[in-house]
Amino acid sequence: MSYLPRVLLAQLLAFAILWWLVVPQFAIAALPALLLQGGVAALLGLVLRLPRWWLSINLLLPLTLISLLALELPPWLYLLGFALLLLVQWNSAGERVPLYLSNRHTWQALAEQLPAGRPFHFVDLGSGLGGTLCYLAGKYPQGQFNGIESAPLPYALAWLRCKLARRKNIRLHYGSIWDARLKDYDLIYAFLSPAPMARLEQKWQSEQRAGATLISNSFAMPSASPKEILELNDRRHTRLYLYTSQGSTSPRSKV
Ligand SMILES: C[S@@+](CC[C@H](N)C(=O)[O-])C[C@H]1O[C@@H](n2cnc3c(N)ncnc32)[C@H](O)[C@@H]1O
Repeated sequence: MSYLPRVLLAQLLAFAILWWLVVPQFAIAALPALLLQGGVAALLGLVLRLPRWWLSINLLLPLTLISLLALELPPWLYLLGFALLLLVQWNSAGERVPLYLSNRHTWQALAEQLPAGRPFHFVDLGSGLGGTLCYLAGKYPQGQFNGIESAPLPYALAWLRCKLARRKNIRLHYGSIWDARLKDYDLIYAFLSPAPMARLEQKWQSEQRAGATLISNSFAMPSASPKEILELNDRRHTRLYLYTSQGSTSPRSKV
């Protein structure tokens, strides 16, 4: 079961336990009752194997919802908020890959892995707002940079960003990374989440081009051994896992 149904289940169970069994008997005031429901839902979330970062969301969800209702905002605002969230975080529920962005340290580390002075094909699997592509395409005009993205709003913003930056060596594709042919690329970059890494590993094993390199930001493949792990000197100590296809030496020399 993916995260959202488990969050809903935890909140519903907490609601049932507290509002039918506890609150009528002990006459708890509204504020502590809402916090109590959040607390019980947070614990139930752990039982339902939600990751720890859902604890605080589950804890504050009932209080936040009731506070928002008390503000009596017009209903269309909620609809608008939901639509925006959906258009940005399109892949959070199904693929379990939300939108978060690579930082400048990572862009620089990636740039160091690209070959100077000869053409190559690079792809960012789930290219988000296109920042990584714009940066690298500016540094390596001889490279062909591709982005694949299926969240509508990030795709549109990345398209606009690349147009404004006048990067002629970027191509953005609207669609799923699972339909991409990894054989077409010399260097593949992915910043996804733990959820799709096993599937990505299978795809990489069956489609890799000889001499290609796959760099995964933060998330290792479950079975393959990386050729190298770069730990960056940024605040989150970003780790880049470098996988090379069979017969490769170092990414920089082979791409
Ligand atoms: C963590 S973000 C990384 C964005 C960008 N690569 C960067 O490093 O700044 C992951 C992106 O992958 C996209 N994504 C997740 N699953 C996808 C799929 N199956 N097909 C296309 N894009 C996907 C998400 O919409 C999100 O924009």
